Amino acid sequence: ANTQGKWERSIPRDLCPPPPTATKELRATCPPLSTFFFLFVVFVVSTVFHCYQRLALVPTPWASSPRVLLAPGHLPREGMFTVNAIGRLGNQMGQYATLYALAKMNGRPAYIPAHMHNTLAPLFRISLPVLHGATAGSVAWRNYHLDDWMQERYRHIPGRYVRLTGYPCSWTFYHHLRPDILREFSLHEHVRRDAQAFLRELRVGGARPRTFVGVHVRRGDYVQVMPRVWKGVVADRGYLRQALDWFRARYPAPVFVVTSNGMAWCRENIDASRGDVVFAGTGVEGSPGRDFALLTQCNHTVMTIGTFGIWAAYLAGGDAVYLANYTLPDSPFLEVFKPEAAFLPQWVGIAADLGPGPGRPLTWSPKSQRMWAE
Ligand SMILES: *[C@@H]1O[C@H](CO)[C@@H](O)[C@H](O)[C@H]1NC(C)=O
Ligand SMILES: *[C@@H]1O[C@H](CO)[C@@H](O)[C@H](O)[C@H]1NC(C)=O
Repeated sequence: ANTQGKWERSIPRDLCPPPPTATKELRATCPPLSTFFFLFVVFVVSTVFHCYQRLALVPTPWASSPRVLLAPGHLPREGMFTVNAIGRLGNQMGQYATLYALAKMNGRPAYIPAHMHNTLAPLFRISLPVLHGATAGSVAWRNYHLDDWMQERYRHIPGRYVRLTGYPCSWTFYHHLRPDILREFSLHEHVRRDAQAFLRELRVGGARPRTFVGVHVRRGDYVQVMPRVWKGVVADRGYLRQALDWFRARYPAPVFVVTSNGMAWCRENIDASRGDVVFAGTGVEGSPGRDFALLTQCNHTVMTIGTFGIWAAYLAGGDAVYLANYTLPDSPFLEVFKPEAAFLPQWVGIAADLGPGPGRPLTWSPKSQRMWAE
């Protein structure tokens, strides 16, 4: 805007009138060509500098810079879609993929917030352009809440500048675009290479395994949240034994690559005596990239609960075993989560053990019951 101002000040609109009779006079009033050239150079340099500054505000990990950044005041006239980036890796992958699919369905360009770019771009070769924070703040967004499953009305979302909200993570939004989604979430080459290098070193009975099964065990806050808030459970050792046995029965000498945000629990509760289990996860909550990459490079998946495991299974693309029916039938969780929209039909569910026991929903503490009744 500054450059614009300078330009206008130095060359008033009425400076060059229609050709006067004397050329001498013209030379006297119009600045010499070199002045125009100088101002043009100033304009270009300052524009480049301005853009560079904007780019610099969005970290560009692994040198994959975002494709486009909008400057305030240059919004697409046809409108645009963006999404509220909330939660951790798996949630934001769901939000990204849903934005990608619904924007396409509604014929609008899609832009992701810088926060989402910071979460996803270190791992994946995502292509959606980034909306700068200053631009996002200057738009009168129309928030549009999404349930966690596709609905007919999402094909005609009203409003021009729409921000999708909610925790969508369902194949029902984007499975028809599966090749696109796999491309968007393809790993950066160095991430993929590191995961492959790890898998190449594994041995079962001295031999290199041909079947790799990624196992994701979601623990952390969910251990408390599932029974207290959702009348549900997280996976127990019985489920994991059954899930691993499912693969042992179907593939010769598979290796199980275990990742979790509760690795200590896994070491105690997953039987590794056969020599086919490797506790691979770093379990670092803040940097889940390496664990996620490992899971996606495996051929098959065992998941417990949570979107992290669901995405690992979706990207790995092989057989997948999931924990089924892990809440009581009257759980409020089932109002926001439809199992049939979360798990692909060909995936295999193993029912959770909801019977009374420590950490199980039938043994709620009075405090948690009160919490829930409020
Ligand atoms: C299984 O995964 C490994 C490691 O990514 C890969 O080298 C191999 O080709 C995969 N096998 C099949 C049948 O896809
Ligand atoms: C989960 O519960 C539903 C409804 O009771 C049932 O139809 C389904 O078979 C159960 N799934 C598993 C894997 O047990």
